[in-house]
Amino acid sequence: MPDMTTANTLNVLGICGSLRKGSLNRALLRAAQEEQPEGMAITLCDLHEIPLYNDDLYLPTPPEGVRAFRAAIAAADALIICSPEYNFSISGVMKNAIDWASRPPSPPLDGKPLALMGASPGLLGTVRGQLAMRQVCIFTNMIAMNKPELFVAKAHEKFDSEGKLTDAETRQKLRAFLVAFSQWVQRVHAR
Ligand SMILES: Cc1cc2nc3c(=O)[nH]c(=O)nc-3n(C[C@H](O)[C@H](O)[C@H](O)COP(=O)(O)O)c2cc1C
Repeated sequence: MPDMTTANTLNVLGICGSLRKGSLNRALLRAAQEEQPEGMAITLCDLHEIPLYNDDLYLPTPPEGVRAFRAAIAAADALIICSPEYNFSISGVMKNAIDWASRPPSPPLDGKPLALMGASPGLLGTVRGQLAMRQVCIFTNMIAMNKPELFVAKAHEKFDSEGKLTDAETRQKLRAFLVAFSQWVQRVHAR
């Protein structure tokens, strides 16, 4: 665990569970970068280079993209997972990446503070997907913040064609969410 009393910056890795160019969830993560509170630096990672999980590929040396992903998680003070909801669960892309990161030795997810958020054109804004993600947190031992929650419903109406968050209320909620997350992560690291 990094020493949050001496580190000046809270380094947060944002992981998007969608690969598509026009992803609303990546747009939400970009908006989070715009709204990150002082002392927080959100970096986004890319899951394009993560192959489908195969134990035969894991040993003796995992694929390059997997090693880079695990290293990025290990280096981060905290994670934000922003995944689409697919069929009432998290996307396969997201789950696959987590599976790679969950393997020994020294699984980097172990004990990592985490915020969940998500965007959907639907009315519930990834409520069920986030609940499914909380189940994954149990075995991987990620420590997910319970409250506040962030669900962006009708998301296609809240971003413009460039992926910019245009909805003022969502932007305000996002800002408050990130401030709460920053304070909560510092409490987790202090324990
Ligand atoms: C296979 C599939 C399953 C989906 N299932 C759900 C769902 O259960 N709940 C929901 O709100 N949206 C669902 N959607 C719609 C996604 O929320 C929507 O495509 C969203 O834009 C995906 O996130 P992205 O924009 O970040 O790629 C589904 C989409 C796909 C392709």
